[in-house]
Amino acid sequence: MTDYQEQLDCYRSEVERFLDGCFTQELPQKQLFEAMRYSLLAGGKRIRPILVMEFCRVCGGDWKQALPFAAAIEMIHTYSLIHDDLPCMDNDDYRRGRLTNHKVFGEALAVLAGDGLLTAAFETAASCPCDADIRAENVRILAEQAGELGMVGGQTLDLTWEQKDLSEEQIRTVQRLKTGALIRASCRMGVVCARGDASQVSAAERYADALGLAFQLRDDLLDVQGDASKLGKAVHMDEKKSTFVRLYGVDACIRQIREQTQLAIDAVSCLREPQILIRLADELAVRES
Ligand code: IPE
Ligand code: IPE
Ligand code: MG
Ligand code: MG
Ligand code: MG
Repeated sequence: MTDYQEQLDCYRSEVERFLDGCFTQELPQKQLFEAMRYSLLAGGKRIRPILVMEFCRVCGGDWKQALPFAAAIEMIHTYSLIHDDLPCMDNDDYRRGRLTNHKVFGEALAVLAGDGLLTAAFETAASCPCDADIRAENVRILAEQAGELGMVGGQTLDLTWEQKDLSEEQIRTVQRLKTGALIRASCRMGVVCARGDASQVSAAERYADALGLAFQLRDDLLDVQGDASKLGKAVHMDEKKSTFVRLYGVDACIRQIREQTQLAIDAVSCLREPQILIRLADELAVRES
């Protein structure tokens, strides 16, 4: 059995190294590169890259070959955070333990840094030195889950449904799209890299859907009762939002996190060596950051 912490540290350091090699050119627009690197290298948890590489590994693939896709999803995630923090969206001042991108570089450059990261993600994925059919399928998954039917669609609902009394179903829809979609893309791309079979694809999808919900529920709970210094972002910022925890309370939220975490664990139990994915789900359910 692979050591859990060792494997996660290894995935993190590989993806950090890959990302650190990006956007270093000495060009007239190097201020843009600086803004992109500022948020990209600010030390996020790198959960999505870990999922790409671990799903590749558990499905029998060489996880190192999945590295460009792992880096690509982190670029898209980072872009989504830069835009999410803008004054026209959540208007946040802190992210990943430092001032938000627009606080340092101004709104225009923050918008462009997001645009740059989104575009670079597709170049990174499309340049992966793997079989062409794997590359094409993963680029398609990235686009599908990041775009109007995925994360961008979810961010739209998050804003347009603000201050409305949402049903539980509507809250789930927002969570599934704004947060679940990139998690789903991560798990699926890992399976594609390993040429996983239908049962592995299905396990990855069910794991991602449940983990994505639990992850956003925990995020919303931490906004109510988390510690800003551990989170690296301010708390009590969701006062206007109809999150699950605001509508149904802390206990119901904790119960839901447990239920969804168990569903995620059940989904991958059929895989060879699911221990890392199981422990990851368990730890994310009680994360403080
Ligand atoms: C924050 O994502 C935004 C949500 C989707 C809840 P993470 O909690 O993964 O943020 P980082 O990448 O660790 O900063
Ligand atoms: C963020 O949700 C989802 C995306 C960025 C796509 P939140 O707005 O709840 O994330 P935080 O709390 O700012 O990290
Ligand atoms: Mg938001
Ligand atoms: Mg936000
Ligand atoms: Mg939040």
